[in-house]
Amino acid sequence: MSRAGAIGVFDSGVGGLSVLHHIRQILPNERLIYVADSGHVPYGDKSPAYIEARSIALTQFLIEQGADAIVIACNTATAAAAHALRVKYNKLPIIGMEPAVKPAVTATKSGVVGVLATVGTLESARFAALLERYAGHVKILTQGCPGLVELVERGELHSVQARHLIERYTAPLFAQGADTLILGCTHYPFLAPLIREIVSAEITLVDTGAAVARHLQQRIHTELPARVAGDASTQFFTSGDVEPATRIMSALWGESVVVQVLPTPFL
Ligand code: DGL
Repeated sequence: MSRAGAIGVFDSGVGGLSVLHHIRQILPNERLIYVADSGHVPYGDKSPAYIEARSIALTQFLIEQGADAIVIACNTATAAAAHALRVKYNKLPIIGMEPAVKPAVTATKSGVVGVLATVGTLESARFAALLERYAGHVKILTQGCPGLVELVERGELHSVQARHLIERYTAPLFAQGADTLILGCTHYPFLAPLIREIVSAEITLVDTGAAVARHLQQRIHTELPARVAGDASTQFFTSGDVEPATRIMSALWGESVVVQVLPTPFL
């Protein structure tokens, strides 16, 4: 018997919309449900236990809405909570994401790669294991970027402050020879046009949004064979204030969207 499914996607805030764009592109008929945990953003400076508790609450909500596959559209939450989610919801495909170290190591010509990510991601055991596995002889320079997530949450993609922060975070990486930059947080692809204005055209920018969408497509194909796609709708929820969320999520999604507030037990 076939049944209609839905894909649940969450992030600490609006950043995961950069991944949702890729998902919508390759899965046009799916019902997508997105939760921005903007009432708790940023995750980057929170404890793993806090992020795990939020990730469980959001996943529970998404499952109650009909999701039969979950995408953790957040590098920080993947590092802190993917394992716990996979143990607790072991019947569901749960797709996480990590900074694109492997493609960056392939792309670099100088042998030096810079990683822009949250402090939470960079300090995680999962990130250490990723470097251990893929860095090889390439020198990996890491740069925590406090403040960037907050700018994207406010919809400030071209402000003077955004420019200053990006210059400050990237300059030391280029001074040490980096020719490839990993955007290791799902908020940062929204700053890519500004980063492109600031950094030399020779610099390669890499992120994992497209790869995550392809991985999701393959997982639902192999693990949920009896399933049919949903009604091609996209629903948006936030744990933050609905008015700014509607404005900013509409701008980042590229069309006017309706944003609903998460029910109280999940806030
Ligand atoms: N968008 C997130 C990530 O990919 C988390 C940002 C944050 O809340 O600090 O890491």
